[in-house]
Amino acid sequence: MLDTLNQLEQQGLAELNSVADAAALEQWRITYLGSKGRLKGAMAGLKDVPREEKPAVGKRSNEVKRALESAFESRKATMGGGGGSSGPVIDMTEPGTAPTLGRRHIITRVREELCEVFARMGFAVASGPELEDDEHNFVKLNIPDSHPAREPIDNFYVAEQGNRERPRMLRSQTSTVQIRVLDQALREGWGPPVKVVAPGRVYRPDTVDATHMYMFHQIEGLYVDRRVTMADLKTTLFQFARAYFGEEAEIRLRPSFFPFTEPSAEFDMKIQLRPDQPPKWVELGGCGMVDPAVLEAVGCDPEAWTGFAFGFGIERIAMGRYNIPDIRMLFENDIRFLEQL
Ligand code: DAH
Repeated sequence: MLDTLNQLEQQGLAELNSVADAAALEQWRITYLGSKGRLKGAMAGLKDVPREEKPAVGKRSNEVKRALESAFESRKATMGGGGGSSGPVIDMTEPGTAPTLGRRHIITRVREELCEVFARMGFAVASGPELEDDEHNFVKLNIPDSHPAREPIDNFYVAEQGNRERPRMLRSQTSTVQIRVLDQALREGWGPPVKVVAPGRVYRPDTVDATHMYMFHQIEGLYVDRRVTMADLKTTLFQFARAYFGEEAEIRLRPSFFPFTEPSAEFDMKIQLRPDQPPKWVELGGCGMVDPAVLEAVGCDPEAWTGFAFGFGIERIAMGRYNIPDIRMLFENDIRFLEQL
């Protein structure tokens, strides 16, 4: 019996060495390791072995079995596949890994959603440069030289070589686009009426905290036409809020001051940022009736035209809409956060 086993092992290993393709390998497996194979056949003889020899023969059978099996596995691996073709072994019954789908950043999506809501109310989309001059950022918006908002400490002015007529800066507000659009409309003769929203980045050297960032996004609105009134402004903003946040949205206008609007108001909304805190009033931005001085600055007759304007923070809107407690989460790009939105 021991001889038979030794012979089986030798022969098996030798034949395995000369196996040339996957089909021959499979044939070898059937011959030696299959359920009706030679090893099974030899092991069936174990029952006729005398009692005292049984342990030794049993042990040897197991050794031979293991030797043939492992030789088979390594031969299979070096042949690659063993399933008929070369290439890596693929188990078609595995569930597999789903591909990770990317998505646009939440700020991009909110920006598009906002443009979409305002488009339904007749607003076109406009844009302007992020690198601006102080004429568009301040002068034509009725913010005089002496105004504290122009302090270097509150703005990102750009150090430039050569003598530019006007200092340039990273714009601190999208209200710059009001001037650009009105200028362009008058120059090209297609307006007013002008009805646009302008989303984009703005920059301020603010100290970063849960609601402030040195770069953020605003969406500006401007509607100039004949006989536009404060009632139109209020209706537009309240309709926007209900369309975007739902019928239960709690909003309010609070009297305020901006150099480029008169009268001016702040637009607040009741927002619950954290589940463990009650909702509170959050300022989304400012609005008001375009100041006659602004219309005059672009050469638009304030006796013939009136308008309203507004400028909201897109991050604040996103935080309210998607219950995001901290503005920094929007910029850290932690994939675990972004994947939830
Ligand atoms: N530009 C203002 C800011 O950044 C917001 C603002 C207020 C925009 C009133 C407007 C407006 O268009 O009418 O704080």
